[in-house]
Amino acid sequence: MSRGSIAVKADLVARSLVTNTTVVGKPSAPLLNVHDYEAAARGLLPAAVFDYIAGGGGDEVTLCASRASFERWRLLPRVLRGLREVSTATSVLGQDVSLPVLVAPVGAHRLYHAEGECATARAAKSAGTIFTLSTPTTIAMEEVATEAGPWWFQLFIFRDRGATRELVARAAAAGASALVVTVDTPVSGRRERDERNAFALPPGMAFVHIPKTPPSADSLGGSALAANVNAVFDPCVTWDDFEWLASLSGLPLIPKGILHPDDARLAVDHGARAVIVSNHGGRQLDAAIPALDALPSVVEAVAGRVEVLMDGGVRRGSDVLKALALGARAVLTGRPIAWGLAVAGEEGVRSVLELLRTELLRDLIFCGQALPASVERSLVALAEAPNR
Ligand code: FNR
Repeated sequence: MSRGSIAVKADLVARSLVTNTTVVGKPSAPLLNVHDYEAAARGLLPAAVFDYIAGGGGDEVTLCASRASFERWRLLPRVLRGLREVSTATSVLGQDVSLPVLVAPVGAHRLYHAEGECATARAAKSAGTIFTLSTPTTIAMEEVATEAGPWWFQLFIFRDRGATRELVARAAAAGASALVVTVDTPVSGRRERDERNAFALPPGMAFVHIPKTPPSADSLGGSALAANVNAVFDPCVTWDDFEWLASLSGLPLIPKGILHPDDARLAVDHGARAVIVSNHGGRQLDAAIPALDALPSVVEAVAGRVEVLMDGGVRRGSDVLKALALGARAVLTGRPIAWGLAVAGEEGVRSVLELLRTELLRDLIFCGQALPASVERSLVALAEAPNR
């Protein structure tokens, strides 16, 4: 290699070229970034489906704050470091991944593309990352598993513990390598966009792992989906239930939806193998803290005992880099996956992941960082609050 050049693995360069997906049936405008995928998805999806993906709880304060948080943190690049090799590859819970961006659990992929969760699983596999299949999947986990690379199963704990136990057993048998236990959903968030749109799954589509419940007037208000969630999910889960889950299979448990450092400590004390700092993409408790802002104190609380992941508002490679600098091992991404799927199925999801990879690679180079796992804390600083 010539002096001064940076060795970027050849396959990464090749992958980075896959950014120019053509939207089927539309004049092809280049899709240069994740925001372009959002705009393209808006043009393709029925408005109520686009809103289902986009929406958050209440006034969507948390949803907006999550993006604003990424903008408040700024990068302090290091220069003249003689960097010879740069790679986006890392590992998460011992699993090698080619970039520190995992696919977050997002329900109902068949709403966005006919091939649904199978297309997403294939895309994650070809991008070299972990796919998380959510409990509200529209294709049975055994079928998705046949097309997936490494995958995690996201679990909501049901009131019916027998049904919960069965889901865990099925996930273990189908080859999931971890259980992501979502802990921020004792009840459904109130998503007013869905209520306004009277949003429901279309005929012929179902959450195949969630028991159907008769339509009911829910005492908490909300859409038909929210009423189903509130009837099936257990609002009274404790850390003892978490330990019970751990006893059901040998799968590592990863609580998702941790924001408070004391909960992070409790999670580790009760056997969590990693934690995901998340506010569910602003879809649950409105006014919850942005995950990026919660990240440093969670990282401090777990003190290196487990890996810390985060999600919520990641739209650029520089966002990934900021999260890594604040102590995340990796991030997950939700809505961008749904947009990619809506725009071009498997290829769209893969392109979204490749865009994030390419952006991260460039920003690692700009910042003098060789690897995701060794990104320095001193790389981020808080911008001064704007004068009011
Ligand atoms: C989600 N999310 C989610 N989380 C979860 O634990 N189980 C689930 O079934 C779902 N379903 C779901 C559907 C849709 C349409 C969205 C947008 C999100 C939350 C998801 O895993 C993740 O926390 C957020 O999406 C992260 O924020 P971004 O990346 O969308 O900004």
